[in-house]
Amino acid sequence: MTRTIFVTTALPYANGSFHIGHIMEYIQADIWVRSMRMAGHTVHFVGADDAHGAPIMLKAESEGITPQELVARYAAERPRYLDGFQIKFDHWHSTDSPENVALSQDIYTSLKSAGFISSRSVEQFYDPVKGMFLPDRYIKGECPTCHAKDQYGDACESCGAVYSPTELIEPYSTLTHAKPVLKSSEHFFFKLSDPRCVEFLQEWTAGDNRRGKKRLQAEVLAKTREWLGTGKEGSEANLADWDISRDAPYFGIEIPDAPGKYFYVWLDAPVGYLASFKAYCDKQGLDFGALLDPAGETEQVHFIGKDIVYFHALFWPAMLKFSGRKTPDGLHVHGFITVSGEKMSKSRGTGISPLRYLEVGMDPEWLRYYIAAKLNSHVEDLDFNPDDFVARVNSDLVGKYVNIASRAANFISKYFDGELGYVGDATALSSDIAAVVAEVQADFEAREYGRAIRRLMAYADTVNQAFDAAQPWVLAKGLTPDDERRAALQDICSRALAGFKALSVMLTPILPALTARVARDLFGDAAAYRWQDASALPARIEKFKHLMQRVEPSMLDALFEPPAAAVPTPGGEAIADVIDIKDFAKVDLRIARIVACEAVEGSDKLLRLTLDAGEGRHRQVFSGIKASYSPEDLTGKLTVLVANLAPRKMRFGVSEGMVLAASHADEKSHPGIYILEPWPGAEPGMRIS
Ligand code: 2FM
Ligand code: ZN
Repeated sequence: MTRTIFVTTALPYANGSFHIGHIMEYIQADIWVRSMRMAGHTVHFVGADDAHGAPIMLKAESEGITPQELVARYAAERPRYLDGFQIKFDHWHSTDSPENVALSQDIYTSLKSAGFISSRSVEQFYDPVKGMFLPDRYIKGECPTCHAKDQYGDACESCGAVYSPTELIEPYSTLTHAKPVLKSSEHFFFKLSDPRCVEFLQEWTAGDNRRGKKRLQAEVLAKTREWLGTGKEGSEANLADWDISRDAPYFGIEIPDAPGKYFYVWLDAPVGYLASFKAYCDKQGLDFGALLDPAGETEQVHFIGKDIVYFHALFWPAMLKFSGRKTPDGLHVHGFITVSGEKMSKSRGTGISPLRYLEVGMDPEWLRYYIAAKLNSHVEDLDFNPDDFVARVNSDLVGKYVNIASRAANFISKYFDGELGYVGDATALSSDIAAVVAEVQADFEAREYGRAIRRLMAYADTVNQAFDAAQPWVLAKGLTPDDERRAALQDICSRALAGFKALSVMLTPILPALTARVARDLFGDAAAYRWQDASALPARIEKFKHLMQRVEPSMLDALFEPPAAAVPTPGGEAIADVIDIKDFAKVDLRIARIVACEAVEGSDKLLRLTLDAGEGRHRQVFSGIKASYSPEDLTGKLTVLVANLAPRKMRFGVSEGMVLAASHADEKSHPGIYILEPWPGAEPGMRIS
């Protein structure tokens, strides 16, 4: 029976580029989608950018652009990654879209009519300078437990204590450095504690989907049982109601009938799955309503990481259920990807940049294969290990798989003009293949890709062994046109090629481009492979063409090497790492008047400046600008002084600060140093910020 399946991956925040963690999830989902399509099922696979929320709003503001412009910038670069790694979404959308506004507001209104929305006043930290309520991550202060300074509002990175921002000692806003004040405002809540909700979630999390399969992986279920209080005897559900509103200014969707209130980004983010599908349906002329009818047959599956299970296993099914919609049939939860054992940061990613991978000329299908080989259906972390990567790709993929075709095809082309021929009854061969393929197909459906690969590589071993045992090169030696060894040679090569074709079918979800070339160029098959094609024995081949290169270990060196001056700038130097305003504020820059200036005897670089920075005293500062300025050029002029730089003892005396000057990174090819001078009106002692 053919199935209709609606598949999504977690929607990435639209304030950063994809990192290897995103690509891993998309590859996992893409493989699954392709494998289900090969069985004849209809799959709708959509993604979108998660566009809303305070971080995106504030980042856009700091760059002087609108949030929409920021989102558009990241949206524009998505195809390079997706196409590059052969990840084929049917549609990519945005949560900042009319479909999402309509759906989010509609879901909210339904929840409200069903009595699942409450409101109450909440007291929170407010930045009086910025004029906004502060999310926890924009508040810092001293840890109430270990007294470490500059800890975030929710947890201490030094001692691990978890607290609320109001417990911080001397809290400050990281946006303005202002002391936050407590302020009340009305918030809306989704009543997760409602007994109907608890009862539903206990059933939904533990129950079977419409195909009689568990909705959740065992380890995910165990986690939800803790949250739902069904884990231990006597324990009770302690689900807190969920605060779903945020006050203006906020980049988000307005809450109906609540001026100045917006949905918290996590409310409209998963609705973005539906919004993307809706937009896709509209484009394709599909009936969105019918496809997602709660009583209908469409299966709904979400691929997500282990960090966002709470949202997807509790909030999301409850939101859908009580707004009268279809609930998900499965969550496919994966672990994190580490690189050589090192954890990835959600915002910065890992040492592997997906674009760099493509730029250094590495084959995207190597990565697809390697990731697949290490994935299973459990919530386990996966490690990218460079040596292991080289070994697996070269020995399995090239050494075992591709090798079969290159060896057998040459004999067939040379002695049989491309015709395959099997001695005796080949149905046993066909049914042997069918048996392996059935198991591999089931592994794919169960997301046991590593097991699928072990199985199909074991099959590749048997094909190679049979080929080697028959010693075709001996059979071919001095072969004449009517030699009786011809049939044996053709048979063993044909069997090897039939095995190769079966392996190609089995690898199609993982290596779509390579196997499409095999189908078209080698076997002359016009259509993309389906599972049942595996056991149809090929009758002829075209001349073998090179299929896949081996990984050169030097490519991995290039992958991990930071690109030299990735972004060349006119100044000859890449822009330094991002700092926050607080880092910048540490540097005290002041306007200073150069009251005196003289050459330093014994130095061909330095001038001695006497500066007045409005302190009621003069400072002596040495500056290496002698090549560009003579003392009389500078005397009486205003300039910029780093006023809180630690004094430095030099050969000619103590330097009490530094004056600012511009120069090219490569002084030899671009000589010249240019001291800064403020516009008229500035006075000694004024702070620069
Ligand atoms: O954790 C994240 O990256 C979120 N942007 C995921 C959202 S998934 C879905 F709910 F949209
Ligand atoms: Zn602490």
